[in-house]
Amino acid sequence: MKNMLARFERRVFSFALSVVFIAVVFNLRTVCGDFRYTVQEERKDRYVVGNIAKDLGINPQILSRRKARIDSEDSSKRYVDIDLKTGDLVIAKTIDREKLCGSRLDCMLDYELVLENPLELHRIVLKIEDINDNAPKFLNERITFEIHELASKGQRFRLDEADDSDIGQNGINSYSLETNNHFILSVQGSNEKGKYAELVLDKELDREQQTDIDLILTAFDGGNPQKSGTAVIHITVLDANDNSPVFSQPVYKVALAENSPLGTEVVIVSATDADEGANGAVSYEFSRIANNAAQLFTIDKVTGTIKVIGEIDYEEEKYYEIKVQAKDGSGLATTASVVIDIIDVNDNAPKIVLKSLKNPIPENAVVGTEVAIINVQDTDSGDNRQIHCSIQQNVPFKLNPSIKNYFSLITTSSLDREIEDSYNITITATDGGSPTLSSSITIHLSVSDVNDNPPAFDERIYSAYIAENNKPGTSICSVTARDPDWRQNGTVLYSLVSSEINGVPVSSFLSVNGDTGVIHAVRSFDYEQFRSFKVQVVARDNGSPPLSSNTTVSVFISDENDNSPQILYPAPEGKSLMTEMVPKTALSGSLVSKVIAVDADSGQNAWLSYHIIKSTDPGLFTIGLHTGEIRAQRDITESDNMKQNLVISVKDNGQPPLSTTCSVFLLISDNLAEVPELKDMTYEENNSNLTSYLIIALVSVSTFFLTFIILILAVRFCHRRKPRLLFDGAVAIPSAYLPPNYAEVDGTGTLRSSYNYDAYLTTGSRTSDFKFVRSYNDNTLPASGTLKMFQDDPFGSSIINTDCIEIWFQSQDCDIENERELLSFKKLVMHYELD
Ligand SMILES: *[C@@H]1O[C@H](CO)[C@@H](O)[C@H](O)[C@H]1NC(C)=O
Ligand SMILES: *[C@@H]1O[C@H](CO)[C@@H](O)[C@H](O)[C@H]1NC(C)=O
Ligand SMILES: *[C@@H]1O[C@H](CO)[C@@H](O)[C@H](O)[C@H]1NC(C)=O
Repeated sequence: MKNMLARFERRVFSFALSVVFIAVVFNLRTVCGDFRYTVQEERKDRYVVGNIAKDLGINPQILSRRKARIDSEDSSKRYVDIDLKTGDLVIAKTIDREKLCGSRLDCMLDYELVLENPLELHRIVLKIEDINDNAPKFLNERITFEIHELASKGQRFRLDEADDSDIGQNGINSYSLETNNHFILSVQGSNEKGKYAELVLDKELDREQQTDIDLILTAFDGGNPQKSGTAVIHITVLDANDNSPVFSQPVYKVALAENSPLGTEVVIVSATDADEGANGAVSYEFSRIANNAAQLFTIDKVTGTIKVIGEIDYEEEKYYEIKVQAKDGSGLATTASVVIDIIDVNDNAPKIVLKSLKNPIPENAVVGTEVAIINVQDTDSGDNRQIHCSIQQNVPFKLNPSIKNYFSLITTSSLDREIEDSYNITITATDGGSPTLSSSITIHLSVSDVNDNPPAFDERIYSAYIAENNKPGTSICSVTARDPDWRQNGTVLYSLVSSEINGVPVSSFLSVNGDTGVIHAVRSFDYEQFRSFKVQVVARDNGSPPLSSNTTVSVFISDENDNSPQILYPAPEGKSLMTEMVPKTALSGSLVSKVIAVDADSGQNAWLSYHIIKSTDPGLFTIGLHTGEIRAQRDITESDNMKQNLVISVKDNGQPPLSTTCSVFLLISDNLAEVPELKDMTYEENNSNLTSYLIIALVSVSTFFLTFIILILAVRFCHRRKPRLLFDGAVAIPSAYLPPNYAEVDGTGTLRSSYNYDAYLTTGSRTSDFKFVRSYNDNTLPASGTLKMFQDDPFGSSIINTDCIEIWFQSQDCDIENERELLSFKKLVMHYELD
């Protein structure tokens, strides 16, 4: 069987061989008649491909003769022709192999060469050879990819194939890719099947780094010269949310002044997200914020602007730390800190707190006494809390800084409630801000009283004048003492200092109203008894202990005309019989007698005037108006009545005047014996006393004459009309004649006041007289005697009976020229008195 099979195989093989042989024989025959030519494509017209005549072995002329021609089944494919002159086969039409044969490897054109005479048929095969006349070409010159940025390394992306119409070696041979960071090229396939390239991701993409990548892909063919074609690969990197937002700063530090108005922009935080679209859309919010800060700040979701929405107060919080979060669309978030430092603004005035106050403060508080303690505070900081404290001027207080922020208010001088009983002390605190703020408080401080002022009388000495014979209870003056102290410390009570006046308690003369200081007379005063006295009044306040002061009240009693003149000489009628002897030879103007009268009153009330109101022989005698001197008016003659009787009125100058009358008996005779009626002139009942009366009369007469002699002597000494001056009543009058009343006045001896003398002096006394008078103005004669040593007597230690002088003054109208004259006169008088 096997054998059979082999035999069969052998037979088939030999049959095949025979077929091949026959075919080869037949072909040879054909080939013998065939002409093969090879020509490259794209040859120009008339390009000689070969010489047919030569190949046929015939003369080229024969060809035209035999009408050689090329035939083709398809006339459109007639690319070659025969040149009959040369027998060349030439290109008739440029051949494009690619058009003719496309991608077929063998590209043959079949033609028939026809010869006539004899008809001969030859086959011409024209083989067209490829030349590299086409460059590789991409169908799309722009290749686009969208690759996710998270694509992993090694991922491949197939690229479009390039196309080259040429074949074989001239077809696509290789690809190359522009050098870049992310991709490499991997070429796949073979020449036969076609080659294509793949992009291989060699390094991860980052959209945030590069969104678009353009790469140039080049395809090369294998021809010579090589041709290439390019395409651009455009890669769009697709985003992945692979980036969190990033703040521009990790910490935003800003300073914000307190009291910034609402809406003030504090800071803009900004975060960027490299991603795009929703992945990169950042929104802001506070991620951690204290409650108080949440009331004050807000953040704009979109812009990241932080603004003020509340009142920023440095004193409440000095800084805020807020965490801000930036979040992208898909929730990736980052945080940053915003630190807001609040800057102090001087918006708080200093505060003054009165910690303690000693009110009222006694006026005797020693200098430096602490009155108040104040504390100053300022809630601002830095310079804004540097406080300066001051107090207004012109108050006796100052601020003493003590412990930090504490001041004590102390006195700087002694206080006196009586001058300033309260103070409004204004304390001002100013801080060091710019502009400064200040505040002030006023402390009302009272000064309390201390009994430090004794009552003070308005006047040092009070003088009160009261007319004698006053009604008891009359108010004579009022004293006032003031005490500036407060309430009972300044309440004044008046009282008399108990003393005695002439042995009588002062309280029986005067009383003082304790509250008003009005002094009342308790009894009726008699000027003739005493003319002035002094009392001391004490003003005492009600303090504890009380303070007091005293004043002297001099009470001057003024005279009233309550005493009639008293005739001293001649003795009043009925008591004694006085007869003056007048010499018959008496000439006109000679002094005959003198009426002497006194008035217990003083001044005008005691200024006496004498008038003859009735006389035996009117015109014979005249009386000096004020002297009381009776003088002969004319020479006495024998015819004149021997007995002359004169009634004389003595009147004082008071208002109304008081008067007394007396009778003067004058006997014109040179001899007592010639007086027959002398007996008649005596009184029987007084006989027993006759002797003494006679003695008195004799003494009187002799006194009179003595006086007369002195007068004459005085005239010698006096420059002017002195004789009458020296005839003084006081001198002439023996003290025995002085009435008891008169003597008593002298004895109790309160001197008249100058007030009394004022009236007196108007009658014509000279200045020198006044001086004299004034000298004893304030002195009281001691009760014990009529004589007194004048302490402030301008005449030195002269001793004088004032009433004598007064009498002298009443009667004289002579000028005492100088004090020496007066002195000598006074001494004369004194001498008399002492005797
Ligand atoms: C103090 O102030 C009060 C009220 O302001 C005022 O009545 C008083 O007179 C003042 N006192 C002095 C001493 O200025
Ligand atoms: C009077 O002064 C005394 C101290 O001398 C004092 O204690 C007292 O308070 C004062 N009285 C008044 C009413 O001020
Ligand atoms: C009167 O005051 C004086 C001094 O001012 C004093 O010496 C005298 O004692 C006071 N007299 C009386 C009674 O208070």
